[in-house]
Amino acid sequence: MASGLQQLCVFLLFVVGEVLSFPVNQGAKPAVSCGYESCHATKPDMLNVHLVPHTHDDVGWLKTVDQYYYGDRNDIQHAGVQYILDSVVDQLIKNPDRRFIYVETAFFYRWWKQQSSATQQTVKQLVDEGRLEFVNGGWCMSDEATTHYSAVIDQMTIGLRFLNETFGPCGRPRVAWHIDPFGHAREHASMFAQMGYDGLFFGRLDYQDRAHRMREKEQELLWRASDSLTPPMADLFTGILPNGYNPPEGFCWDQFCDDPPIRDDPDLEDYNVDDVVKRFLAIAKNQATVYKTNHIIMTMGSDFQYENANLWYKNLDKLIHYVNALQAKGSKVNVLYSTPSCYLQELHRANLTWALKTDDFFPYADDAHDFWTGYFTSRPALKRYERISNGNLQICNQLEVLGGPVSRKGPFGEGDSQTMKKAMAVAQHHDAVSGTEKQHVANDYARKLAEGWQHCQVVVSNSLAGLSSSSAERIYCDNLNVSVCPLTESSKKFSVNVYNPLAQPVNWAVRLPVNGTAYSVSDAKGRSVDCQVVPVSRATQNVRRNRGFAVNELVFQVQAPPLGYTIYFVSLRQDGPPPASTQPRPPTVIKNKFLQVTFDPDTGLLSSLSNLETKQTIKLTQNFYWYNASDGKNMDSSQPSGAYIFRPNSSTPFGISRTAKTETVQTSVVQEVRQWFAPWVSQVVRLYTDSRTLELEWTVGPVPIDDHLGKEVITRLDTSIKTSEIFYTDSNGREVLQRRKDFRPTWQLKQSEPIAGNYYPINSRAFIKDDEDQLTVVTDRSQGGASIQNGSLEIMLHRRLLYDDFRGVGEPLNEISSIFPEGLVVRGRLLLSLDRPPTAADTHRPLAQQVVLQPLLTFTDGELNSNTRLEFSGLQAALPPAVHLLTLTQWDKDKVLLRLEHQFQSWESKRNSKPVTVNLQKLFSTLDVLGASELNLSANQWKDEMSRFDWTPQTDEKPLLKTFEDHSDWEVTLRPMEIRTFLLRVRLR
Ligand SMILES: *[C@@H]1O[C@H](CO)[C@@H](O)[C@H](O)[C@H]1NC(C)=O
Ligand SMILES: *[C@@H]1O[C@H](CO)[C@@H](O)[C@H](O)[C@H]1NC(C)=O
Ligand SMILES: [Zn+2]
Repeated sequence: MASGLQQLCVFLLFVVGEVLSFPVNQGAKPAVSCGYESCHATKPDMLNVHLVPHTHDDVGWLKTVDQYYYGDRNDIQHAGVQYILDSVVDQLIKNPDRRFIYVETAFFYRWWKQQSSATQQTVKQLVDEGRLEFVNGGWCMSDEATTHYSAVIDQMTIGLRFLNETFGPCGRPRVAWHIDPFGHAREHASMFAQMGYDGLFFGRLDYQDRAHRMREKEQELLWRASDSLTPPMADLFTGILPNGYNPPEGFCWDQFCDDPPIRDDPDLEDYNVDDVVKRFLAIAKNQATVYKTNHIIMTMGSDFQYENANLWYKNLDKLIHYVNALQAKGSKVNVLYSTPSCYLQELHRANLTWALKTDDFFPYADDAHDFWTGYFTSRPALKRYERISNGNLQICNQLEVLGGPVSRKGPFGEGDSQTMKKAMAVAQHHDAVSGTEKQHVANDYARKLAEGWQHCQVVVSNSLAGLSSSSAERIYCDNLNVSVCPLTESSKKFSVNVYNPLAQPVNWAVRLPVNGTAYSVSDAKGRSVDCQVVPVSRATQNVRRNRGFAVNELVFQVQAPPLGYTIYFVSLRQDGPPPASTQPRPPTVIKNKFLQVTFDPDTGLLSSLSNLETKQTIKLTQNFYWYNASDGKNMDSSQPSGAYIFRPNSSTPFGISRTAKTETVQTSVVQEVRQWFAPWVSQVVRLYTDSRTLELEWTVGPVPIDDHLGKEVITRLDTSIKTSEIFYTDSNGREVLQRRKDFRPTWQLKQSEPIAGNYYPINSRAFIKDDEDQLTVVTDRSQGGASIQNGSLEIMLHRRLLYDDFRGVGEPLNEISSIFPEGLVVRGRLLLSLDRPPTAADTHRPLAQQVVLQPLLTFTDGELNSNTRLEFSGLQAALPPAVHLLTLTQWDKDKVLLRLEHQFQSWESKRNSKPVTVNLQKLFSTLDVLGASELNLSANQWKDEMSRFDWTPQTDEKPLLKTFEDHSDWEVTLRPMEIRTFLLRVRLR
């Protein structure tokens, strides 16, 4: 052993040659050389094999994030992140050649806080020398199919901010690292480019796509991730890793692995160096044949590996030594410790041209019957809760700024937005909002969000108390969707504060559970507001169980100012008219001044939709169906449907009922047709008087399983629109992509799953169109969807499955809860609009933002103090319709972070797809803006310091380089789909 070690040291000094490395010591501070400068030298005339030691640490999956951190519940899965970081740091110190990358700041941040200052110093030095390198660096590695861009940007921002503040420029990741997410969204690539990353690596892509790319040597490519932003703004170099994110076969040296260690004592019987080296060289040479350069990468690690890092490093040291020793005998293979950024730098130096990709990497299949399209919908209640929580967090952030310091410490105690920020960041993980975690972990994510919201409610209450000069108790009703709110159910007189987080005024329909039969409602100016009382539906009574007892709902329309609130007053009247009654038969028509909806009187189903302004009409029927989930006992494959995988047993879904029993309520505020399909499926088709959209409020569950069949429930809209096998879905809530049935833009698809292989993620909207008509559906959460027949759009709403799908989670997706022990009931809304295609975005862009950032209603019992300020807007004026206020949050004592977004694509609106200018100094009504500095999208680098690698696409698409300047320091121009991020120095007026 001793002699082996000596050889090793000599060799190491040799390799280190030109690279300055310092053993860690507490004394003299060596010069900083992190990033690209700290990479080991490579050999231009050899095949260079970059070994990247790494661990993949899920921020919750089979265990909760806390259990993973501490290594608790190792009976479920042996994994303890604290030990991984302890062990890796020890091993990095032992040999300056060694490298490690770390990814998930949610874990690193906890660990860092618990270290002594001496250990922190040591780690800082490892980072400064590029021996420990952060990649990705967000709070987690977000899911790409089910996340909304605003929450992704937020989670990246908090992780990267911690790294910058702790380590400075050496802590800034150069590479995005999405090795595990199950398919890759174009909007993620666009965001990464705008966050300043030089490249992205990932592990999973469709098996047919991979085979094609291996043949064409296109596993490394240039992703042009926006059709609106001027290249190279959204260009991102993208590399597909050779073995997912695992080591090559036979070379896993973790404590979890069984591969033989390198036994290098020739005196012992089991000497295997020659065999190991031979196997390694064969793998390396083989891998090199499917990549373009004389550099290849090998990921040496996997899930929660390196808890005992000595095992890995001891063997890697030897592997490098023995493989390179053969160079003396003419071998042309050079192995080195490396990182993704060092590998990327070599690809960049190669100065090649790269295949250009403009679509995305959905859906992902790892075999012919194994499409990972189920998780687009899995755990629909958690997906909705995550989306609502995002809205609540944005409101909390805004009010923390607008209310000033009193928001954090005020009449209602001490509150904070941090708890919610972290809970939301954790929820973006690729086993969180994706729905692919165990049930107890899903419960933990939801619990964290609820706890975050508790902390935020104090901020909101304090802030609103300050802004309105009223510290009356403020009541939150989080269950209004099922008509539960103890205050409104019993109070005779109360006020409703409607806070609107959008930068434009909003019209919103309020529905409050009540027990009286007549109310009067007035607005902040004392004007009386048309209101109606309608009976609570049977479906709502069923789903709320014993949580509330209202028999009626009070319905009225409110209007709230931009980034502000207004107050409505409600009082019970003794003498009012009786509540609206329901009629058992459907009318054939409901309509308002914008839309007309007809129903088939025989079936009770929708039959047509008209836009009365544009004078267009389509045939539209809608019904619910379910796919019978495969149980895996099947000729073609043994793959069952599960949390990840969607695999229906048959391509024809089962109907639930050909007809719906209906009841109708028609009032001056709202008209609704309540449809009853089965004890577990109902819907309200709802048209508010002032609305341009038709609401379909669906309620599904408990999905029956007494027939022992797993069910995947869809709603399907069948229309007369001539779609020619094409439909459209959004990417992470932003740009829209075209989808064509049984088709992939970059390879010849062999379709083996006619339904599951045509499903795509819908984050906020989907549409179908022809030359005349566009039907857009805005969703309230991420869901999977497809267009299987021409003119048809289906959206998967709920899944209840009886088998695990063999991707590790080890549980069937069969959700129950204490309120729903017989199976979860889920409720949601689809908002439909019918427009001419050239103007459709003018409707769906603002509409989708209203759903994401819906107004927050809070309640105060009794009379309000007479000097209460009844209306407030934080803006001097509403922002133009094209501009979305994406972020307004406190950064430090006197600075706030602001993101302004142009929310239209360059091609989609005649009116709105134009550059638009905003004056930062004239933005706020209560804040003076004293200074502004522009940042990258993730706010961890100043915009003028951003410089990224240039990459040349193969196809000769010369980007149009429109240079562009703002008119002045305060005037900010946004072009279509552009997001600009500013740190503002502000003072409360
Ligand atoms: C890269 O290649 C181009 C054209 O092939 C050439 O003009 C350029 O000088 C090269 N750059 C470097 C740094 O080698
Ligand atoms: C990064 O952190 C340092 C403090 O460590 C701070 O001075 C600098 O402004 C930060 N950079 C950005 C872009 O926020
Ligand atoms: Zn993972």
